[in-house]
Amino acid sequence: MSAQSATAVACANIAIVKYWGNRDDALRLPANGSISMNLEGLFTRTRVTWDELRVTSGEQREADSLVINGRRMAGDGLRRVSAFLDLVRKMAGIDARAIVESENNFPAGVGIASSASAFAALTLAASVAAGLDLEPAALSRLARRGSGSACRSIPGGFVEWQAGTGDEDSFAASIAPPEHWDLADCIAVVSAEQKPTGSTEGHALADTSPLQACRVADAPRRLDLCRRALLSRDFDALAGIVELDSNLMHAVMMTSTPPLFYWQESTLTVMRLVREWRLGGLPVCYSIDAGPNVHVITEGAEAGHVADLLAAVPGVQKVLVAPVGGPAELVE
Ligand code: DP6
Repeated sequence: MSAQSATAVACANIAIVKYWGNRDDALRLPANGSISMNLEGLFTRTRVTWDELRVTSGEQREADSLVINGRRMAGDGLRRVSAFLDLVRKMAGIDARAIVESENNFPAGVGIASSASAFAALTLAASVAAGLDLEPAALSRLARRGSGSACRSIPGGFVEWQAGTGDEDSFAASIAPPEHWDLADCIAVVSAEQKPTGSTEGHALADTSPLQACRVADAPRRLDLCRRALLSRDFDALAGIVELDSNLMHAVMMTSTPPLFYWQESTLTVMRLVREWRLGGLPVCYSIDAGPNVHVITEGAEAGHVADLLAAVPGVQKVLVAPVGGPAELVE
């Protein structure tokens, strides 16, 4: 084949019912379903070019090239992307090497799920450049193989990832478009350092916690409550379930072997203040991923005020504000 390229953008997403633990690590089949909202303005833009240069089987991994934010990647980062590209090569029946150029407009490794936007953009760009014309569900399934949460950055707005029974039916779909509810995520950044234990390693530890089985067994109930709160735009109901779900995931993390503690002092300060502000009548709730930063969900009309309140909290270095975002898209 001659050189073919495509460029795609995809938003990050914040899970409000979270994915933690896999039934199958290789296929990234999650222990439980999850619900998220896409984050407008926090995105990855990725260009994939399938090069004319043919390589013999097994050599693609060395041959692929990956540049992220202007830095050439090697080692584990490149290996993970090449293993994913092998899936695309297989689906498209090609043996070309890939040239991948990617840019994030937000800091990596701080609990703002760069792997979600990165693998969603890579899925769309790589598949289109390879001549594949995948349906949204097939794109989401493919993105899931790169990073579980990436399957939720393919569709737009408020999204649910069905745990499914296997590879075929474990994908994400939109449950409401971005304009359904004017919410925003105000991300209180308390540390921009790389997290010590990444999500992939964390998922593998989930079953070592005696609490994981309870968390997973109760997930259908939480998903149901969250879906209903979203569809009826009931902020109080949403707040209760979002904080419960985040607390449950961190309880599992803290009781794994070895235990994972992602919070810092200022994480707890923000959590306490968010609860106080809500008791005072402000529509706010918190959710924390595998990092110390706090995602504070609020209504769009309050986002500026909430961002100002968060910026004044000791230990908060900066606040990023993201409304609800759309689906992954091709650009150019
Ligand atoms: C805590 O999707 O980053 O953000 O599949 O190994 O790439 P991999 O994991 P990843 O895990 C996300 C975990 C989480 C919760 C969530 O986004 O649902």
